[in-house]
Amino acid sequence: MNKITLPTPDDWHLHLRDGDMLNRVAPLSSDFARAIIMPNLVPPVVNVDLAKAYRDRIINAGFANPLMTLYLTESTSIADIDAAIDWGHVHALKLYPAGATTNSASGVHNIDKVMPVLEHMAKRGLPLCVHGEVTDPEIDIFDRESVFIERILAPLRIRLPELKITMEHVTTKDGVDYVLSQDKNVGATITTHHLIIDRNDLLVGGVKPHFYCLPIVKRRLHRDALRKAATSGDHRFFLGTDSAPHSLDKKECECCAAGVFSSPNTMPWLAQVFDEEGKLENLEKFASLNGPAHYNLPVNEGIMTIERQDTPVIFPKSYGESDTLVTLFDPGQPLYWKVTL
Ligand code: DOR
Ligand code: ZN
Repeated sequence: MNKITLPTPDDWHLHLRDGDMLNRVAPLSSDFARAIIMPNLVPPVVNVDLAKAYRDRIINAGFANPLMTLYLTESTSIADIDAAIDWGHVHALKLYPAGATTNSASGVHNIDKVMPVLEHMAKRGLPLCVHGEVTDPEIDIFDRESVFIERILAPLRIRLPELKITMEHVTTKDGVDYVLSQDKNVGATITTHHLIIDRNDLLVGGVKPHFYCLPIVKRRLHRDALRKAATSGDHRFFLGTDSAPHSLDKKECECCAAGVFSSPNTMPWLAQVFDEEGKLENLEKFASLNGPAHYNLPVNEGIMTIERQDTPVIFPKSYGESDTLVTLFDPGQPLYWKVTL
């Protein structure tokens, strides 16, 4: 197959930031009709008033169809959930274990404290997006996802099986196997970069800051489990780029910020991955069909065409300038696919 046509894809996990960076990156997600917008701003998007104002800023910046989320804190109330549902533009709450990642300080320390809110969400059918990593300093960074499943996610599912959960940016075979073991109310997003790079790419021959993200990329066997899950067409797996722009000075410095910026070239790279796996026909499930089904939304009416090229496709190395200078995800291999429509 040299050409694939699919319903316009969506991005089920996107960081658009705010201010100048928002204005810089919002138009760069134009391959996607809709996106679930992460709420980890400073201060975080914890209620409907903040989400309304942020949604307006996103639309003004050039991304027409943001699907908003609220940041779950130990102070989130049942009234916050009802207000979110009444407004109609909040599609999930986001659980960040406190300290797990960028701007997660206001996140949840103790899951018991948010149980009444989670029970109410389950009752009202509002999904929970989960950053699935423990923050226990005793746990090795490469094990944080699997320990989270064991200590937090599996017990939560047993307590509250009716709560719909999106396991965000699953990065391990353990995560894939857990999702596959659940027959309802659990889906998982997978990023573009976790399908392509592993921890050798991050670390061998020198540390590559533009491959550093959280959850951190794992060993090859995990990447391969993710590729198998994503390309299988299984309805529980769908695209969430976790495209997370940080300016160059925050990436190339003594203490590099976590995040890979991949919105502009995700679709061609996914076509290449699915082609390498001999599963191009399943790209539409991963990028266009499974996500809307998980979130009870219609499939987009538009279409996208991606075509194989004879010569490598070249993207800009970066976009913007000074405070908005962001480096594009570049796995360092030639890319032979291009979005043509
Ligand atoms: O790599 C990441 N970057 N992982 C996250 O969970 C947050 C994100 C960000 O906001 O920069
Ligand atoms: Zn994220």
